[in-house]
Order: sequence, then structure tokens, then C-alpha cells
Amino acid sequence: MAQAIRYFELNTGAKIPSVGLGTWQAAPGVVGNSVASAIKLGYRHIDCAQVYGNEKEIGSVLKKLFDDGVVKREDLWITSKLWNTNHLPEDVPEAFNGTLQDLQLDYLDLYLIHWPVSMKKGAVGFNHEDLTQPDVPTTWKAMEALYDSGKAKAIGVSNFSSKKLEDLLQIARIPPAVVQVECHPIWQQPKLHALCKSKGIHLTGYSPLGSPGTGSVKIEVLKNPVLISVAEKLGKSPAQVALRWGLQMGHSVLPKSTNELRIGQNFDVFDWSIPEDLFLKFLEIEQERLIKPVVFVHETYGAYRTLDELWDGEL
Ligand code: A2P
Repeated sequence: MAQAIRYFELNTGAKIPSVGLGTWQAAPGVVGNSVASAIKLGYRHIDCAQVYGNEKEIGSVLKKLFDDGVVKREDLWITSKLWNTNHLPEDVPEAFNGTLQDLQLDYLDLYLIHWPVSMKKGAVGFNHEDLTQPDVPTTWKAMEALYDSGKAKAIGVSNFSSKKLEDLLQIARIPPAVVQVECHPIWQQPKLHALCKSKGIHLTGYSPLGSPGTGSVKIEVLKNPVLISVAEKLGKSPAQVALRWGLQMGHSVLPKSTNELRIGQNFDVFDWSIPEDLFLKFLEIEQERLIKPVVFVHETYGAYRTLDELWDGEL
């Protein structure tokens, strides 16, 4: 009998549901339906961010679902993220409260620093001239204050390399509960995985399907021959196998879909498993990072001259 792996326990004691709906690149006007469909299909975890520009719509849908008695707030896990333009300590609570207001919630289950990158307050878009020097220790103190207030039940970071996570652990009064990073069979993050394991930090994988809809993404995770052959052997889709691989690694996964059939398919990963011999085959897959945010690196502006510096060599 397969182990269901419905949730993971965090260092706060809270249980994060293992499969969450991603909402990045889910267009306003569409995202609300996806969230409602997902929750009706059994999802209990929605991954949001201020910069996705769709939190207001998600908030209206959540309110309706609560009002209609479809789900209770305490049974849902809602994550959001602090955008780069709000890293100054006085801006952190303001951004957090703005997100709470948009989502029509009075607390978040998890609040993350979105990137180890900071930009001028109020900057719109991704102009190199708006990049500033991040001061993660100071921003983290403001995150800790949100945790102390009880309005962010857990805090963490996203898009941190192993080195940046280690640096944060050196100064944190409250260690991050979660690190959310790109993670899928073609970018398995073994170093960060091991670090998280040794420090009791949970790893959440975004783009768990390799973001096939993103134009800049050149590697097609769902067409990987290992994934396809395992999927054929198990009678599952490559997407389901990619997600189940994440769960068996101990990671929560955030597949994004706005298609009801695929939203359902991506949640059908609990009553079967990848057997050990096939699971080991994933170790043979050649690795490549898909997310290469050149908008955050510049010779003159900001903190990182190259992607290598942003990711501390984990490329
Ligand atoms: P769609 O929203 O039309 O379903 P990721 O979560 O890795 O960022 O990937 C999201 C992309 O993968 C979206 O383009 C989404 O399209 C597509 N997708 C989501 N679920 C599946 C699935 N089960 N099979 C194939 N593609 C999927």
C-alpha cells in the first residue's frame, strides 16, 4: 500500500499540505476559477504572491468559498511572498498587510521573502536601475516580527541558494520554516535538499512540472525519457510522476494549472507510488536549472553581477 504523503510537518509544528496550487502566471479572470475548482477537488494549499497580481481575485473567491461553507479558513494553507520592492523593515508589515487585505484574510499560514534581491520602493517592472543592495538580516528581523505578531504562522524564504540559506541561519532568531525553490526531476537541488534535511527546514518545489507554458524555458521536463518511461510503466502521466517524485523526496509541490482536468490529475498522486528501483533512475537524469532571472543581475546595479553570484555557483 502506497504511503499517501498528504502533508509535511514544519519546524513550527504546523502541517503543510503536500500538494498546493501554484498561481504564478495564472491570469486575472482565470485564477479565481482555478482556485475554486482546486479547493472543490480537495486541494487545501494555495501558493500566492503579491507580484503575481492576482491576490485580490483569489481573495474574493476564498471569501465566497468560506461564506458558502465549502471550506473553512483553518482547513486551508495560504502562502504569500514579500516582493523585492518592500525589503526595508518599515515596508515589510505594510506589504504583508496589503496582501492580507487583498486576500481578505486575517493571517497567513506562511510568508516568504520572494527573492534575495531588493529593488527601490514603488519600482514597477524589472529595470536594472531599480536594483538595490539587499540586506537580508534586516528584512528577516521584520519577518520575525510578523511571526511574533501571530499573523504569519510561519516564515521562510524563496529562491535562496544553499549559501544564502546558511548565511541566514547564522543570524536568524527564528529559523525559516520553509525554503521554496525551483525543484523537479531535472533540477533536483541535492545540496539544498541535504542542508534543509540537516537543519529541519522544509523544501517546497515550485515549477514542479518544469513550467512548460513559460516561453523562456527551453528544457522540457515532461518530455524527459526517464520520466516518460517511469510514467508508462506505472500507467500515470509524466506530470503525475514528476509530482509524486517530489513527494517521495520529502518536498511539497506547487503545480500550476488553470485547466480543471489537469488540476484534478495533479492531485491524483496519493494512492500509488514510484517503486524504489524506478525512483533510483531519477538520479541518472542530467541536471539543469530552468529559472535564470537575468533581470536581477547587472554589472553595476544591485548585489549580483552574474547569475553565478545570485545562485552562488549552484547553476
Ligand atoms: P495549464 O494551466 O493549461 O494546465 P509548473 O507548475 O511547473 O509551473 O507548470 C505549469 C504549466 O504546466 C502550465 O503551463 C500548465 O498549463 C501546465 N500543466 C499543468 N498541469 C499539467 C499536466 N498535468 N500535464 C501537462 N501540463 C500541465
